Amino acid sequence: MELLPLCVCLLTWSETTFADGNDVIKKVVFEDNEAVLPCSFGSENIENQIFDWKKDGQDVFLYDRGRTYGNGLSGQHEQFKGRVEHFQDLLKSGNASIVIRPTKVTDSGNYTCVSVQNGVSTTRSRIELIVGAAPEPSVTSLQTTKDWSLLQCVVRGASPKPEVVWQDSSGHNLTAKEQVTDRGGRYDVTLHTTVTKTGNYTCVATQEEINHWTAAWIHVYISGGIFNTVTIACVIVIGVLFLLVVVLAVILCRRRNRQRGRY
Ligand SMILES: *[C@@H]1O[C@H](CO)[C@@H](O)[C@H](O)[C@H]1NC(C)=O
Ligand SMILES: *[C@@H]1O[C@H](CO)[C@@H](O)[C@H](O)[C@H]1NC(C)=O
Ligand SMILES: *[C@@H]1O[C@H](CO)[C@@H](O)[C@H](O)[C@H]1NC(C)=O
Ligand SMILES: *[C@@H]1O[C@H](CO)[C@@H](O)[C@H](O)[C@H]1NC(C)=O
Repeated sequence: MELLPLCVCLLTWSETTFADGNDVIKKVVFEDNEAVLPCSFGSENIENQIFDWKKDGQDVFLYDRGRTYGNGLSGQHEQFKGRVEHFQDLLKSGNASIVIRPTKVTDSGNYTCVSVQNGVSTTRSRIELIVGAAPEPSVTSLQTTKDWSLLQCVVRGASPKPEVVWQDSSGHNLTAKEQVTDRGGRYDVTLHTTVTKTGNYTCVATQEEINHWTAAWIHVYISGGIFNTVTIACVIVIGVLFLLVVVLAVILCRRRNRQRGRY
């Protein structure tokens, strides 16, 4: 049995940004990278202003006239401690963006940047952040007989949930038994399929939300089945033919010898 894992990363990017009709900026990053969440007040100097970043109700980052969380202010959600910064030098030009680093899968969610001026709160930006984890599938053959092989594909800790399929060498999906475990936003997917033909089989994991796919393949050799029966039949036919030829030759030789003997 040959094991030949392979990772095909079709798109190698770390960040994609686009805005839809509702002015929600969608951002996709992989975990352990950084995510810059944009927010702007125009061009005014905001060093003496207040801006507040929240994610689904959690306190992410607060800037209050020079003070921030961990620097004069308290109340930041545990999840974000030590991982969020603003751009001090850019405050003069109205830039209230923040950066989260390193990113975690649990950072995924909807963020808002709100300015507070003269007691009036204004939402300055909305961002939907998706932090993806895209592990490679690992493929093995659990059991092989002369007629079939039981193949397993495991994708561990993926986020968002991947679509996992087994395909044959011509790209057809194979029927498989799937088992999915949700570990708080991370997914373990195990896929079993039984194949009966020698060939190259590929396990493909797709995560549409983060525009990513990855695959691993395995070469399977099945000795038995119809192929073996044909081989045995051929061997028998050839053997019988060979015997017939030998017997015929012996008979012919004897006849000739007898004829010679007469003269
Ligand atoms: C604010 O600064 C960030 C970080 O440098 C940058 O990515 C973003 O484009 C800036 N926003 C504006 C409106 O200039
Ligand atoms: C952001 O909010 C939208 C609308 O409520 C929701 O469908 C989506 O799942 C949220 N995004 C994340 C990453 O939680
Ligand atoms: C194989 O399965 C995937 C995931 O379910 C699906 O997106 C794809 O269209 C299928 N391909 C074929 C050729 O049926
Ligand atoms: C199996 O498929 C992979 C990917 O298409 C290819 O690179 C490899 O050469 C194939 N292996 C065999 C033994 O055909």
